[in-house]
Formats: sequence, C-alpha cells, structure tokens
Amino acid sequence: MLNKGNYNKSKEQYVHEIFTAIAHKYDLLNSILSLNQDKGWRRFAAGELNLKPGGNGLDVCCGTGMFAIEQARIVGREGKVTALDFCENMLARAKSNISATAFSDVITLVQGNAVDLPFPEGSFDCASIGFALRNVPSIEQTIREMKRVVKKGGKVVSLELSKPGAPLFKQAYYFYFNNLVPAIGRFWSGVGGPYSYLPNSLKDFPHQEKIRQLFEDVGLENAHYHELTGGIVSVHVGTV
Ligand SMILES: C[S@@+](CC[C@H](N)C(=O)[O-])C[C@H]1O[C@@H](n2cnc3c(N)ncnc32)[C@H](O)[C@@H]1O
Repeated sequence: MLNKGNYNKSKEQYVHEIFTAIAHKYDLLNSILSLNQDKGWRRFAAGELNLKPGGNGLDVCCGTGMFAIEQARIVGREGKVTALDFCENMLARAKSNISATAFSDVITLVQGNAVDLPFPEGSFDCASIGFALRNVPSIEQTIREMKRVVKKGGKVVSLELSKPGAPLFKQAYYFYFNNLVPAIGRFWSGVGGPYSYLPNSLKDFPHQEKIRQLFEDVGLENAHYHELTGGIVSVHVGTV
C-alpha cells in the first residue's frame, strides 16, 4: 500500500510546470485534438456519477473546470460542486469559464493535491477525475483519496485516455496520437514539450483493465469500465 508521502515528487513538479505553461490554450487544444469529442465524453462520465439535483459532487484535477460544469448542470442551482486542482493557472481559467455559466455560486474552486485531498471522510455524494489519472504522482493513492471523501454508496468515476484494441483502428490512432498530436500541440500552444509529454504519458499508463483492477484493489465495489470511441477513452466506475 502507498503512503501519502510515497510518490514521485519530480513528476508532480514537471506536470505542474506543463499545465502552468499551457493553461491559456488548454480548452482550445482539447477541442482540436479530440476532434471536439471531449465534451461528450465528460457528459457521459458525469452521467455515471449517479448525481442528483441538489447533490454535492467533487471534481479532482478540475483543470479549466469543464467537468465541474457538467456536474453543476446535474446538481443545478440548489446543489454544490467542489473543484480541486494544484495549478494556479488552470484554476484561473476555471474561474473565468465558470463565471461565463449560471453556476458561479454552485462551484467552489479549491487549490490542493489529488493525492492528499483536503476534505474529511464522506464529504461528497461522488467524485470524478477527468484526463488526469495519467498525470498524478500515484494513481492508486488518488483513487484511494477519492474513495475516502465519498459517502458510502456514492460513485468514484475516472474519464481517461485508454488503449484501443481493434488492430487497424489502433494503428491509425497511434499514428495520430504519437506524431500529429505533438505537432498540432506545438503549433497552437507555441511550446513543444507539453504535447510531446502527452503520447509518453499514455505509453506509461496502465491498460484500462489494470485500472479497473486498481479500483477493486482500493475497495471500490462493482468496478467496471465503458470504452468510448473505440477505446480511445475509458470511463471507470466504482461504488464506495
Ligand atoms: C489534462 S488536465 C485535465 C483537466 C480537466 N479535468 C479536464 O477534464 O479537462 C489535468 C489536470 O490535472 C491537474 N493535476 C495534475 N496532477 C495533480 C495533482 N497531483 N493534484 C491536483 N491537480 C493535479 C493539472 O494541473 C491539470 O489541470
């Protein structure tokens, strides 16, 4: 089992620097690189949270706030969403994105670390994490923390890039992901490093079945996943 202090600090710093550098272009590049699929993927994942109007959700590694906004659409003006990230620049973008919606009073932004969530046990009805398990210093510790802060019976959901299986589709996708994504990212963001990191972060990331196993290992019940868009992304769901 991992202790809270037992994770790789240098990865954490590297990831923080990357998101500090690309925060201003993150939403645009997400839409371009995912061929505008990202919003539908988040909406599907939010639907798996079993969140209700008036509910109280958490989004971990909220970035520019897009997943938290999906949660807010479900809980409505009577509900609450807490959105946490460790990167100031991403939180600043989140603040601006949220202020353009009707949910400014619903969503609270918190600066903090996914591996050491600053909330008591059982604080939320559910917890989500979008496109970020690849980035955290410890996947297991992050899932463990999400489980800890969710009430019994609530859902923990991760939306993340995954590994497609069908042979031809897989080859075409990896060509796009390994060659075109870094080039497009470099062109639009003006910085190369962050978008070369993207293919590497997926190479090192466990297969979706292994992530399901981790959900089970930390004690989440009925751990399962949905592959979307041919397995380009997977939505993992577990019950506390
Ligand atoms: C790819 S972005 C995903 C943003 C958002 N969830 C979305 O759906 O677009 C990853 C985010 O995770 C945040 N992050 C990475 N490691 C973190 C950590 N250990 N604690 C908190 N936030 C972290 C980064 O700052 C960044 O905003």
